Amino acid sequence: VKYMSDMDLRGKRVLIREDLNVPVQDGKVTSDARLKAALPTLQSALEQGAKVMVMSHLGRPEEGVYDAEYSLAPVVKYLASALDFPVRLESNYLDGVEVAGGELVVFENVRFNVGEKKNDPVLAKKMAALCDVFVMDAFGTAHRAQASTYGVAQYAPIACAGPLLAAELDALGKALQNPKRPLVAIVGGSKVSTKLMVLNSLVRKVDQLIVGGGIANTFIAAAGHNVARSLYEADLVKDAARLAESAKTRGAEIPLPTDVIVGDKFGADATATVKAVTEVNGDDQIFDIGPDTAEQLAKMLENAGTIVWNGPVGVFEFEQFSQGTEVLARAIARSPAFSIAGGGDTLAAIDKYGIADEISYISTGGGAFLEFLEGKKLPAVAILEARGSE
Ligand code: 3PG
Repeated sequence: VKYMSDMDLRGKRVLIREDLNVPVQDGKVTSDARLKAALPTLQSALEQGAKVMVMSHLGRPEEGVYDAEYSLAPVVKYLASALDFPVRLESNYLDGVEVAGGELVVFENVRFNVGEKKNDPVLAKKMAALCDVFVMDAFGTAHRAQASTYGVAQYAPIACAGPLLAAELDALGKALQNPKRPLVAIVGGSKVSTKLMVLNSLVRKVDQLIVGGGIANTFIAAAGHNVARSLYEADLVKDAARLAESAKTRGAEIPLPTDVIVGDKFGADATATVKAVTEVNGDDQIFDIGPDTAEQLAKMLENAGTIVWNGPVGVFEFEQFSQGTEVLARAIARSPAFSIAGGGDTLAAIDKYGIADEISYISTGGGAFLEFLEGKKLPAVAILEARGSE
């Protein structure tokens, strides 16, 4: 792979693909983590005297139709103020763009273009023709083989990885390819079905795989316990049993909760009760790990060499079911381990407990982070590798 940091960009037309797909409400960006992460790349290209063009998608608009709801205008406003630099939003760019010195040009949502999602080569070639150097920096979209992530990299005169993409791959590589052991992963969330591939892949690598949320309930059921009215997936109990077995065969572990917090209903006003996992019955619904379990798992995290975190272990948006996630979050923060976290709910938990500075690396990827954990090759990275060896 070629890297932007090794390139001489002075005077060059540089087209950077970022993932500026952030939530917008009433014309304002409501979470700027991805924008903050992209700023150093843009700054660096501008400082080097490049003619900088940036492109991104936002949301999932219908192709071929302009829809103001999906405009990058709020993002442009944010960037102009964060960079303290003139930033222009350009809607008509496919047939050529003038970039004046002293300005940054942001292309309007690439998903307004027909052919973006199916990676139409005609579209990708038009994008490629706009630049001397294409920089892929959108880790969050690297799992999509689309015109602005994959096709453009195929046809651009030079295609390289930007600093953010490089940092993401570096951190993930450190965590999963050559981890300092013990390697502990936390996979939380509501459904095994959405994370089965992640679990399948991690179980072959980790020393301990902590499962949480509805995912844990399916493992609890697989261990032969009654989960009563808890959310779990009956058709995946067999998979959970197989995963537990394959961990054991490797000398690894999927520790199950010994105690849990159950509620009588799902809601902020539910009554919470601590129970041994063997005593769950009746109308109980498991919404969090219990205090003994949290303490055991916290010790595991404090002794880890590497921690990979995706997903909360309880319904942490309700106070009475938030302790498990909070105890683990604080243990990760205290742990000397190299820690990496990703995914929307995980980032919300990190924010809630104010521990962002204590996590070694926070990924900007949602789906891309999960696909990396699944052990998949991200297509936009694969094409950079192919182009890098030319
Ligand atoms: C994300 O938010 O995960 C990325 O920006 C990709 O968005 P998409 O799932 O709409 O392709």
